[in-house]
Amino acid sequence: MKEQVINFQLNDEPVNVYSDPSLSLLKLLRNRFNLLGTKEGCGRGDCGVCTVLLDGRAVNSCLIPAGKVQGRNVCTIEGISSKSTAKAARFHPIQQAFVEKGAVQCGFCTPGMIMSAFALLQENPSPSKEEVREAISGNLCRCSGYKQIEEAVLEAAKVMICQKEHPGFK
Ligand code: FES
Ligand code: FES
Repeated sequence: MKEQVINFQLNDEPVNVYSDPSLSLLKLLRNRFNLLGTKEGCGRGDCGVCTVLLDGRAVNSCLIPAGKVQGRNVCTIEGISSKSTAKAARFHPIQQAFVEKGAVQCGFCTPGMIMSAFALLQENPSPSKEEVREAISGNLCRCSGYKQIEEAVLEAAKVMICQKEHPGFK
């Protein structure tokens, strides 16, 4: 398809790129913006390793044509730490909880899991275990088992609520 200029917000910065609009958002992010945290797995919507936020909703970037992000907001794992209310923190509380709860092993699924968890906690700050399970059901993990991941999301939820109520809380 003929290339065109695509303008959008990427991790809170306005960007524009000249691209084939049928290229996947996943390839655009990795190949044109060098944002390699978003992983490439199945390429057909089955594994969730390519999950990013599009206007705040978790989507499989391998299924989104680049032309569809025109004028919209995209957030990748590289942009997530700036969304912590504890501004001095290096990691977002979800990232921190994944490390502390042993939810990261090979790490290949981790960015996608974290993006799905982030979208959940924006909508539902205090989810049940079942709601966490449902939110990450499109994200496959081949090594850690889902228990630690669920525990990490629940722990992150608690920390994020505390940070909101007590801005000095780390
Ligand atoms: Fe997108 Fe698997 S690479 S869902
Ligand atoms: Fe290896 Fe999930 S930690 S695939």
